[in-house]
Amino acid sequence: MEQIEEKEIKTSPLATRGGSNSAKNRLFDEDRAVHDWYRFVLSFPPHLVRDYLGKWGVDGHKRVLDPFCGTGTTVVECKKHGIPSIGVEANPTSHFTATTKVNWSVCPKEILRTAREVMQTAQAQIQQEPLCFRTLPHDATILLLKDSVSPLPLHKVLVLRECIEQRGDKSRFPHLWLALAKTAVETASNLKFGPEVGIGKNKQDAPVLEAWYRTLEGIVADIESMHDLAPIPATMIHADARHMHQLIPNCSIDAVFTSPPYPNEKDYSRITRLETVLLEFARDKKELRQIKKGLLRSNTRNVYKEDDDDDWVRDFPVVQALANAIESRRIELGKTSGFERLYGRVTKLYFGGMARHLADIRPLLRPGARLGYVVGDQASYLRVMIRTGEVLAEIAESLGYKVMSIDLFRTRLATATREMLREEVVVLEWQGMQ
Ligand SMILES: C[S@@+](CC[C@H](N)C(=O)[O-])C[C@H]1O[C@@H](n2cnc3c(N)ncnc32)[C@H](O)[C@@H]1O
Repeated sequence: MEQIEEKEIKTSPLATRGGSNSAKNRLFDEDRAVHDWYRFVLSFPPHLVRDYLGKWGVDGHKRVLDPFCGTGTTVVECKKHGIPSIGVEANPTSHFTATTKVNWSVCPKEILRTAREVMQTAQAQIQQEPLCFRTLPHDATILLLKDSVSPLPLHKVLVLRECIEQRGDKSRFPHLWLALAKTAVETASNLKFGPEVGIGKNKQDAPVLEAWYRTLEGIVADIESMHDLAPIPATMIHADARHMHQLIPNCSIDAVFTSPPYPNEKDYSRITRLETVLLEFARDKKELRQIKKGLLRSNTRNVYKEDDDDDWVRDFPVVQALANAIESRRIELGKTSGFERLYGRVTKLYFGGMARHLADIRPLLRPGARLGYVVGDQASYLRVMIRTGEVLAEIAESLGYKVMSIDLFRTRLATATREMLREEVVVLEWQGMQ
């Protein structure tokens, strides 16, 4: 992949607070409750969701959908404001995370009591068997980025996992498992995110049990403070946003706020790989491949021979022109690797997949429904600029949506091309089938 270094630059508009781009994407201190239980590096901030739902007059009588809901920023924010919501997510790790983050109907005392008992058992085991490190099976280990986690912190995480498992599976004590995922990434691992996932400083040891317990104390405090909002419905569906209309009642959605993947060569399954392996959502290559197949094609690592999303943009000149420009640039530069040869095709698959999704959800929308899609420009494919928001708006229009605006959320400077990469909110309205 052609690396384009991106720099944030100062710009004004949209967000309610903070002048700089990083401030716009920041999680404000007062928003930490629940959102902070586990956050995905590519999440948008809760205040963005709030701003748009507020502007559209969405209240507790309406229903919001996030079809690419990731770790649940939209659904959590809705629940905090008493708004019923539905989240759809194809990656089982993110689906589990979001499901747990909207589960406030648990007994806080029971969670903490169980956590204390688990911690004592784990502590005793770690002290008793200091030299006998637990490891992951080979098939799972090879899914991880090399050196993701050092032997001792991994041992502690695996002992902790074993002790949690003795108490109950992921459906019995989801919060304990979620805290394990967070601790594994933030405390135990050597991973760094920025926004690409990579390997940072090697941690020989880490206070895994203590961090896990502290996370649970935070979770429990939030559940106690959110007690009155626990009954607000927030339904999570594990599904592919390109094929989901049968899972949700027709004409039941008043607003959509979401951020799909961007066509930028990021392997979304890589960002959550450690948690995916530790929570056993993927135990080998076959299971990982199955997960990737359920995701929108946004990078050349998940393109398959049988893919046909590109059919949806076959007669769409802008997308065809982009794919042709990428392919011509590849030939001109003499780039011949298998991945480079797929750059044009994945661009068509990406926009085709988004077209498929936008067509699929139409029956679910009430006439007058507002939709906000947060997307970013990209120049990852041999520096050919993809104005994602503009192309998406054109596709939406061709499918019967009205394009209300394309709002600038923030900008990044691609230092290699000196061009501005815009991150935008494409605002659409569904007026019903004409
Ligand atoms: C930019 S992230 C969304 C982040 C989210 N706003 C949050 O708060 O964490 C895009 C998400 O779309 C998911 N995704 C990708 N393809 C999908 C598909 N076909 N159906 C449903 N979800 C998909 C990815 O797994 C990822 O979690």
